[in-house]
Amino acid sequence: VDGLRGLSIMPIVVTGATGQLGHYVVDELLTAGVDDVIPWGRSPAPARWGVPAAAVELTNERSVVSALDQADPEVIIHAAAMSSAEAVHLDPRAGWADNVEATRILAGWCRHRGRRLLLTSTDLVFDGERGWYREVDPPTPIMAYGRTKAAAEEVVRELPGGLVIRISLLFGPSRSGRESFYDRSVRELRAGRPQAFFEDEFRTPLHYATAACILVRLTKSQARGVIHVGGTERLSRYGLMSRAAVSLGIDPGLIRSNRRAEVVLPEPRPADVSLDTTLLGTLLPGLERPAVDAAIRTGS
Ligand SMILES: NC(=O)c1ccc[n+]([C@@H]2O[C@H](COP(=O)([O-])OP(=O)(O)OC[C@H]3O[C@@H](n4cnc5c(N)ncnc54)[C@H](OP(=O)(O)O)[C@@H]3O)[C@@H](O)[C@H]2O)c1
Repeated sequence: VDGLRGLSIMPIVVTGATGQLGHYVVDELLTAGVDDVIPWGRSPAPARWGVPAAAVELTNERSVVSALDQADPEVIIHAAAMSSAEAVHLDPRAGWADNVEATRILAGWCRHRGRRLLLTSTDLVFDGERGWYREVDPPTPIMAYGRTKAAAEEVVRELPGGLVIRISLLFGPSRSGRESFYDRSVRELRAGRPQAFFEDEFRTPLHYATAACILVRLTKSQARGVIHVGGTERLSRYGLMSRAAVSLGIDPGLIRSNRRAEVVLPEPRPADVSLDTTLLGTLLPGLERPAVDAAIRTGS
């Protein structure tokens, strides 16, 4: 990661550091030579990076403000969320607290102190009717999860030091010790059990490592507003996992396709939430985003 001199001495809090993306982000910051990385999780986590992830319940304003006063970060990379759409659908009140209220509390502290807040948001703030969404397109969420993230985005957009980072579907092996959708699928496939994936739901998938690298570069930039972060290819999960299978030496015959209408879903899912990432390319010249196959082979 280039040009990170200014970051190396800044205290940076990473919320959700015990999660899938958060792990990669903390690793990337440390690799980039940032000395003062302060990882937070909801529950206490072992000292994976030489420092334990502090347990901070983000919906408890008093605890958050006290922990922030102590850490005094220049930047907060907010990667904590109730990230499962199904979980938010099942418990919308808890989803709202985790995704919106927690963001409001962090934003309040940042506003008061003039600090930066980077929110990790999602392509699922769009309805998927069109695809290749740009930053100027208004959010039109159709799922409860997308509604919480769209509301969190509004909070961060009003913040002078706020940046909304809308991220597409992420893939890659988990570093958190918890199995992700991708890990589970690969495990089942390696065991020779066929798996079916939607062929009619499109995203612009990105490897966790590439996403983390981009997040760190955006932390260094003074970008404000909204930025889309995704891969360069528009793929269904079926397309993604077919490509992954080839790279991992898994029999592609085990990858089956199905359609959303064939499955009983708790909520309708958007058809095409691919992200236009032209702005990202302009903001971070020379940015490399390996194609799915290469990303899986090299872990980036
Ligand atoms: N994964 C994707 O494909 C994807 C795509 C687009 C956007 N995103 C966004 O990227 C971010 C990270 O996603 P992820 O997949 O890495 O999520 P994840 O693995 O589910 O991790 C979520 C993290 O948030 C923490 N957390 C949740 N609620 C909290 C609370 N009330 N207080 C404190 N910590 C709390 C969790 O802590 P514990 O582990 O201690 O519970 C965990 O560290 C999210 O904002 C998500 O919306 C993800």
